[in-house]
Amino acid sequence: MPKLAITGKGGVGKTTLAALLAHLYAREGRTVLAIDADPDSNLASALGVPPEIERQITPIAEMEELIAERTGTTPGTYGGFFKMNPRVDDIPERFSVTHNGVKLLVMGTVDRGGSGCVCPESVMLKTLVTYLLLGQRDVLIMDMEAGIEHLGRGTASAVDALIVVVEPGQRSVQTAQTIRRLAADIGLKKLYIVGNKIRDERDRAFIAEQLAGETILGYLPYSPRAIESDLQGKAIYEMDPQLLAEARAIKERLPQ
Ligand SMILES: Nc1ncnc2c1ncn2[C@@H]1O[C@H](COP(=O)(O)OP(=O)(O)OP(=O)(O)O)[C@@H](O)[C@H]1O
Ligand SMILES: [Mg+2]
Repeated sequence: MPKLAITGKGGVGKTTLAALLAHLYAREGRTVLAIDADPDSNLASALGVPPEIERQITPIAEMEELIAERTGTTPGTYGGFFKMNPRVDDIPERFSVTHNGVKLLVMGTVDRGGSGCVCPESVMLKTLVTYLLLGQRDVLIMDMEAGIEHLGRGTASAVDALIVVVEPGQRSVQTAQTIRRLAADIGLKKLYIVGNKIRDERDRAFIAEQLAGETILGYLPYSPRAIESDLQGKAIYEMDPQLLAEARAIKERLPQ
């Protein structure tokens, strides 16, 4: 079962692509777990999860009592010792919501004013991501922020594809190049590019040229309906059949 991690600069279309791919795998009858690992994102809405259900989702990072119980700490107190291998195996089933055949798990964010902290929440998330990546059962689609913070040397080999979304423009291309270096640092070689918001041949050629040497899986067209689905909180896959068709072509080129 493919394990996909999606990254790229802010706003390029990571969440849109994650929702499209999740839907396509689910339609094949596969068990799909979509992970919202971008604190600033909303995969639930791109998947068309109704607002009343969305409101009931608590991100894992905010489940203080659960984290305290599993890591052996007291909520609100930090420092001191805690378990580095908390139990997480029951979390996907207990805390995911399912909509149209896609299971969604929202990770939330560890906000401690600096990266790389070792605190109970971050240990919990890291352990959970590792557990999910190393497990074999589901198609896993992880919607990440710009970077690969959720991954590390121990999990790099479990990722079948690190998909970097780019849009026509220097900035997202530069972010892709940075991600390429970060990925190389942890031994992650399976990096693929998806171009998004492509208006014309010039946009396509720009990405092809700037990222020559990378494996480009395909291009998604610029779609006013994608924006409309975001405005209306409707599932992206219901709004634009053409976008879905292009996403299917991309999926076919991914490791199966
Ligand atoms: N192909 C497209 N054509 C037009 N607009 C698009 C396309 N794909 C995404 N968008 C729009 O761009 C915005 C950002 O998309 P999306 O949320 O998928 O990006 P993201 O990379 O996940 O962003 P963030 O970094 O904020 O999580 C949204 O308003 C979305 O509707
Ligand atoms: Mg997003």
